[in-house]
Order: sequence, then C-alpha cells, then structure tokens
Amino acid sequence: MSEAASAAPRPPVRLRADVLAVPPYRQGAAPTRPGFKLSSNENPFPPLQAVVDVLSDPAAVNRYAAAAMPELRAALAAEFGVSLDGVHLAAGSVAILFQLVAAAAAPGDEVLHAWPSFEAYPSLGLSSGAVSVPVPLTADAEHDLDAMADAITERTRIVLLCTPNNPTGPTIRRADFERFMQRVPADTLVVLDEAYREFVTDPEAVRGEEVLANHPNLVVLRTFSKAYGLAGLRIGYAVGAPAILAAAQVTAIPLSVTGVAEAAALASLQPDARAELAARIEVLVARRTELVSGLRGLGLAIPEAQGNFVWIPEGPGGVESAADLAAAFAAEGTLVRPFPGAGVRITVAEAESLPVVIGIVRGFLAAR
Ligand SMILES: Cc1ncc(COP(=O)(O)O)c(C=O)c1O
Repeated sequence: MSEAASAAPRPPVRLRADVLAVPPYRQGAAPTRPGFKLSSNENPFPPLQAVVDVLSDPAAVNRYAAAAMPELRAALAAEFGVSLDGVHLAAGSVAILFQLVAAAAAPGDEVLHAWPSFEAYPSLGLSSGAVSVPVPLTADAEHDLDAMADAITERTRIVLLCTPNNPTGPTIRRADFERFMQRVPADTLVVLDEAYREFVTDPEAVRGEEVLANHPNLVVLRTFSKAYGLAGLRIGYAVGAPAILAAAQVTAIPLSVTGVAEAAALASLQPDARAELAARIEVLVARRTELVSGLRGLGLAIPEAQGNFVWIPEGPGGVESAADLAAAFAAEGTLVRPFPGAGVRITVAEAESLPVVIGIVRGFLAAR
C-alpha cells in the first residue's frame, strides 16, 4: 500500500480494498512564488474570440443541455467523413477512456498501454477490475509496438496508443501503426489517443482520420482541451464504429457535457476561430522548436517533441534525478511534471517561460 493510502483516515463504511489501496488523484501544487505553470500541458493563450463571445452570452444554464448535441457531432462527423453516430462526445476525452475500458474490460481482463504514457491509463480499469499491462517505451522514448504486440493475450480487451506520446513527445508513424494493427486480433479494441494531434508536424505520423476507415476495431480520441484551450470547460470526443461508441454511451455518466462546452466547441470550429487557432498553434510549435534546440544545446538528449511539451529523460543523455530537477524548478516558482525514475515533462507555454526553463536547467546541470 502506498504511503498516501496508508495515511488516509479509515472510512466509516465498508469500501473496496482495491480502491482504498490507490491514492486519489492529486493535481500539481500551485506555485508558491510568481512563476510559470508548465505541469499540465495547458494552452497559455486566452480563449479564442468566438469562445469569449459564447461565454459572455448568458446561457440557459437552468436547463440540461440536449444530450445528443447533433450540431457539434455533425460538424465533427463531417471532418472525419463518418455518420453522426460515429461521433461520441464526453466531458473530456479522459472520460471516454474510462467509458471504453468499462465497456470492454471485465474483471481480470487486460488494458495494454505503453509506459510512461498518459498518467490516467494505469487506473482506467480500477472500477471494473480490469488489469493495466504497461509496456516500456523504447530507448528513444517511443512506443515499442513489437513488444506491445507480443504482450497481447487472450485477456487483452483494449489497447491504448498515445500519439504523440504524453509525456515523452514522439508520434507513432503510420507505417508502424499499420504493421502493429496487423498483429492485433480484429475483435480487440484499439484506441488512438490523439489529444495533441493539432501540434503534430511530422508528415509520417499516423493520423486518425486517415486510418479509421481501414480498421473497424479502431476508435480515435480527440479533445478541445489542448490546442483549442478549453481544458476548463471539459469536452472531448471519440470517432469510430457506432456500435462501439454506443457501448461507451451506456457506461457514461448521463448529461455530463454542458451546453456551454458544446457552444464553445462549436464556436471554435467556425472559420474565423480556425484561423486564429492555426496562428496560435504555429506560435506554440515555433516555441517548441526553440525549447528543444535550447535544451539540446545544453547537451541533453531530448526526444522528438510533437505535442505542446518537451521531455527531459532521467538517466543516460538526461538528468540524474527527475525529482531533483522538478524541485529545482519549484524552488524558482515554476511547476513542471516529474515522472520519478523516468524524466521530466515541461509544457511549451508563454514566450517568457522559455529562457526561464533553459536557465533553470542550465543551472541545475552546472551544479552537478
Ligand atoms: C494523452 C492524453 N489523452 C487524454 C487526455 C485527457 O484530456 P481531456 O480529458 O482534457 O480531454 C490528456 C490530458 O492531459 C492526455 O494527455
């Protein structure tokens, strides 16, 4: 049992021991000094103008939203060239991950995913009793797709592929994805988690919309939280076979997506908003390039960064201790995300944060 769980007060009622054994989710602490929050892969820009307009319009918040949200789903369906029931909305794409695991994996069934990857993956099966099967990344911080295919068993019900991989940054290339899919049983669900898709510049990267039609067992996940900057409104979506998405609907908490989130997402898809969005993405991608080259200039082996974050590995080519580096950042009032034993993830954010990051890392390396 973890320290956090053993320190928790004893509940006055009978609860599941396996649930009590897991520490509850803790958001990163707020900075104690003025600094940058580079720990959650958030967008540093204020909302798009079209979203501001929506938010300033007093919505009918005394009413539940119409759950089917056909207008938004139709807009997204048109982008992917699928029917309306091929799109499923939820309060964040993380909600859809939980829904799909609950729909696919019974007690003892396996959820296969790379590691390190999105921190939510290991706990997705907790409430349904499904087991997380993490497969280490390659030395280049990429998915080891051969090892993942080797790890598929009779109990594997869902395979999670994160591209670009949070927290390390590389994408899965399309050719590698196709080779992997040939080794996945046709009745096993594969989820392509593309939360950072809009930041991808690698032409060889797999893109959900290009491969979806070839694979009936594939579901593509997208979110409005990252490039679109709507993290606080909670809205994401899945595209895939209607029968799979209908099962996710069954395991979903009803009426979780708010009308405000729906309206903001729709506004973000209008032509003016898209142009504004594209310009912001370009700025963040340029900052990413600057940050990667600055860190490589300090002698660090930074993997290919295709999201809105960069990864400093712990170990050869990286820093001695991810936890110590994160502490050095915190001492300067800037928050980054340590993965103890693996590395540190730093979000690409405000222009002013770039020299601060480089300066702190330079100082940290010089002090060793
Ligand atoms: C890879 C990945 N998938 C999904 C999510 C969930 O995003 P949201 O629930 O805000 O849509 C995140 C958030 O950090 C992520 O990094």
